[in-house]
Amino acid sequence: KPYNRTMAKEGVVGSKGSVDFEYAKQIEKARRELRALISSRNCAPLMLRLAWHDAGTYDAKTRTGGANGSIRNQQELNHEANRGLETAVQFCEEVKGKCPRISYADLYQLAGVIAVEVTGGPTIQFVPGRKDSLQSPPEGRLPDAKQGAKHLRDVFYRMGLTDKDIVVLSGGHTLGKAHKDRSGFEGQWTKNHLKFDNSYFVELMDSKDSFKLPTDKVLVEDPEFRKYVELYKNDEDAFFADYAVSHKKLSELGFNPN
Ligand code: HEM
Repeated sequence: KPYNRTMAKEGVVGSKGSVDFEYAKQIEKARRELRALISSRNCAPLMLRLAWHDAGTYDAKTRTGGANGSIRNQQELNHEANRGLETAVQFCEEVKGKCPRISYADLYQLAGVIAVEVTGGPTIQFVPGRKDSLQSPPEGRLPDAKQGAKHLRDVFYRMGLTDKDIVVLSGGHTLGKAHKDRSGFEGQWTKNHLKFDNSYFVELMDSKDSFKLPTDKVLVEDPEFRKYVELYKNDEDAFFADYAVSHKKLSELGFNPN
């Protein structure tokens, strides 16, 4: 566990920086606040999407973008890919009011971690200490759902992520819906859009009629991707274990990358 009381008192020192005792205490409070807020407003999918869209702009070459809280900028919120996420930013602002020392970057990533937890998904290790930036990346760094395998690889490889990360993180679509007024798509990937399980992969392989984006469909068409789809469809434990690792990686993009 990232910080028990003793570690927190000493400061959580590791390869990814450190936070002091007061900060660690606020993280624990924010966890509780987020659990309550996310459960009572049924907004786990939106919070997961917020975390992913803050982190997923990372460019490993220039070390720009990433999990730095910049998505709270109106300019970045106005990017087409972020339609609907103002609500998630506002919800997080309520928690920020109660835990003011926590950086936005940490808060959004913690919200993503808690969203997965409260919907029944795996526990994801959370290391605090991300720094905030108000420098928004150029529009167009997040994946375009209308494109294919090459585009997915271009975007995720730019972040420093792998084929396996692409497939396992796409399993995030076990939560939530697509909304006509946000993305132009309409539907939900799984029967229970508030339960985190491996049903995304089951629907992807077995159901002709269920909702899929073009970028979901390529995961079964591309042989490299498909291996992982088959694995996660047949083995939920493998999905949870790999998801927790890849989500942690996603949540740390651009975090102390020295
Ligand atoms: C929703 C695209 C990867 C989590 C959506 C929507 C689109 C989309 C078009 C619908 C948005 C709306 O209309 O409200 C993509 C593409 C991806 C991708 C092209 C490339 C692989 C991911 C990843 C995660 C994720 C990696 C998290 C690990 C979500 C969630 C929703 C969502 C939770 C539901 C949001 C809600 O219900 O409001 N995605 N996504 N997606 N995405 Fe993705």
